[in-house]
Amino acid sequence: MSMRIILDTDTGVDDALAILLAMRSPELTVEAITAVSGNVHVDHCVRNILMTLELLELESIPAVARGEDGPLASAVTLADNVHADDGLGGVSKLLLADGQPRYSAPQNRLSPTHAVDLILEIIERHPGEITLIAVGPLTNVARAVINNPFRMQKLKQLIVMGGAFQVYGNVSPVAEFNIFADPHAAQVVCGAGIPMVFVPLDVTMQAVLSAPDIDLYAQQGGKVARFVKDCTDHYVDFHRQRRNVDGCFIHDALAVAVAFQPELVTMVDAKINVETAGDLTSGMTVADLRPAFMPDEGPNGKVCTQVKADTFISLFNERVLK
Ligand code: RIB
Ligand code: CA
Repeated sequence: MSMRIILDTDTGVDDALAILLAMRSPELTVEAITAVSGNVHVDHCVRNILMTLELLELESIPAVARGEDGPLASAVTLADNVHADDGLGGVSKLLLADGQPRYSAPQNRLSPTHAVDLILEIIERHPGEITLIAVGPLTNVARAVINNPFRMQKLKQLIVMGGAFQVYGNVSPVAEFNIFADPHAAQVVCGAGIPMVFVPLDVTMQAVLSAPDIDLYAQQGGKVARFVKDCTDHYVDFHRQRRNVDGCFIHDALAVAVAFQPELVTMVDAKINVETAGDLTSGMTVADLRPAFMPDEGPNGKVCTQVKADTFISLFNERVLK
């Protein structure tokens, strides 16, 4: 029996790579892919999800639903400088020699159901069976908790790509983008009593998809490998200039991999809170990972602290690029 998942994304480049990995992993049954504003506006995200799915030429695709277009309370934060204006490295502007778009607008249609309602419907349909993998700001997840907290506690597990616990952040010295973009949502989720695993920058920045690997597989001609090359060109340039790596972090794909290969990471119990009011520290994930310092109320989740980076990258290359 494969694992039923919902993937909540702010499809961006590494979200798209996570979608490809999820769809090409037989261990997973993707019940739905939902969109939330984050890297780019949610309307771009839904188009990017549909485009990514259509690359795979599947007989049927999971439900794709549009979610929240902005944070619960804070100002909108985008990352279009990292993912380009369209959220997919500018692939929507690429043209073939004959002037036709290399990647045409998606033909599939969105679900008429709002992402938050769809998440709740699927959990009701499969109580105790759904793993929700959230790789964007947690606005949709928090809205689902607010709307129906008891239903959300029927989740089997929530895996969050987010946070920075023993490393610097990537938006501020202390905050990672997904949490920074909606800290109030993240704090609501941390208080929801859902079995949570955080896949933070502590591990996602240990694994680099190298530019030479991207180029090598693209030259071998596969349509998906070609797309990965096209959508990561801008993203890799950003990493070369601002992260000093000749490739890119594929944060969201690691969160997907952890769902079906948890042995890729080391996890520790933690009591996790999110700073929502600090002028300098908003979006900081606050947790003492020392077992002796666990608060009396005990943990509310787990934090991944180590990763078998080479094993993960090999898994990604095997399943997505080959
Ligand atoms: O900090 C990395 C996270 O922020 C990833 O999910 C990326 O897609 C952006 O959403
Ligand atoms: Ca993301």
